Amino acid sequence: MEKLRIRGGAKLEGKVRISGAKNAALPAMATALLTPEVVQLERLPLVNDILTMQKLLGDLGADVELHPDHSATLQARLIKSCEASYDLVKTMRASVLVMGPLLARMGRARVSLPGGCAIGARPINLHIKGFQALGAKVRIEHGYIEVTTDQLKGAEILFDRITVTGTENLMMAATLASGHTILRNAACEPEVTDLAALLNSMGARIEGGGTSTVHIDGVSELHSTTHCIIPDRIEIGTFLVAGAITNGTLELENVNTSLLESTVGKLRETGVRIDVTDNCLRVSGAKVPVAVDVGTKEYPGFATDMQAQYMTFMTQAHGASVITENIFENRFMHASELIRMGADIKIEGSRAIVRGATPLSGANVIASDLRASASLVLAGLVAHGDTVIDRVYHLDRGYEKIEEKLRSVGACIERLK
Ligand code: EPU
Repeated sequence: MEKLRIRGGAKLEGKVRISGAKNAALPAMATALLTPEVVQLERLPLVNDILTMQKLLGDLGADVELHPDHSATLQARLIKSCEASYDLVKTMRASVLVMGPLLARMGRARVSLPGGCAIGARPINLHIKGFQALGAKVRIEHGYIEVTTDQLKGAEILFDRITVTGTENLMMAATLASGHTILRNAACEPEVTDLAALLNSMGARIEGGGTSTVHIDGVSELHSTTHCIIPDRIEIGTFLVAGAITNGTLELENVNTSLLESTVGKLRETGVRIDVTDNCLRVSGAKVPVAVDVGTKEYPGFATDMQAQYMTFMTQAHGASVITENIFENRFMHASELIRMGADIKIEGSRAIVRGATPLSGANVIASDLRASASLVLAGLVAHGDTVIDRVYHLDRGYEKIEEKLRSVGACIERLK
């Protein structure tokens, strides 16, 4: 299994080009199932989750060509299977995003039920409830969920709680339903806004995508389009922390500055300097960052996907901070690894109390999920000595060429094969 070795202590200086957002690219790829015509995507991040989605769409009958310039050509002329297998769903939960499009176009989808994962139980009951509201029949058998319909019919759907991929799945399904659908308490994440824009460019009639109430008028077919994926706000946030924690200066290019208010605001409160220009963010570390509490929340709140990286930063801030995880019930797996590196963190239910600043010392650590891996990379950058991170396949799922990008701004990082 591949590992990363980081020698801590380098101040990061220079420019980093931010990739397209994985969590926008995955539903964008799934839209190709909604039409026999070509969907052309640009600024796709070349990360392993994208390759998994390519494999899944290929199994369903779509042609998916990924090009080195980060564009992709997708076409599902014919759908030859409506099934997402256990092997693919267990590799990537976002495989469930094919359900909405398959149900809408083929009247059937059979998808392995995702189990819990490192960060929580993560059921898909709200996706299923939504499909039922649109008239689908549901059957669960042998660990698979099957949804079927003769024709989806528009309905009013109130999500009991906000779900990102649930909103995306229902939005995609409703584009080809007959009549009008209203999604209430919908997710407002920028990735949802991006998906709505993409679907509208294919001929869908969606209003309010990216707000809590979405109106969708069903159409009989969707057509070809070209769409550019938004920048990855979590990669941006991760590099902001990398610049801040090493007390360096990084310029992040290809950034949509409006996506990031909560992370930028929080880091500024700690004393980090962040300057915003057109498509660029410049971060300079504070000599003495101060501890600031944070609670994760749906967009536009502080993203749960930035919680682990922020926790690493708080180990280097002066004072005590309380980090509350409100979205997932078990997203503190990184804390025990940070403690092994010298951090002072106490977990009390959904709260982590971090006392800083404590010097970190390099150690062998294990990555438990994507963002936990990123937090350990950040810890390795400031630790004394060498940190070796095991199970970096988690990191490769969502960060494109992270060690190349970090090395180009002065980090001492290498991959051990
Ligand atoms: N939930 C339910 N029932 C459902 C759906 C969700 O109870 O049917 C609960 C979940 O268990 C969780 C909360 O609702 O406690 C929010 O989950 P959500 O459905 O919004 O998460 P998701 O759509 O599965 C996406 C991202 C995650 C990100 C979350 C929250 C993608 C592909 N994944 O997951 O990204 O953490 O939204 O913002 O978009 C990551 O990139 O590392 C990652 C985990």
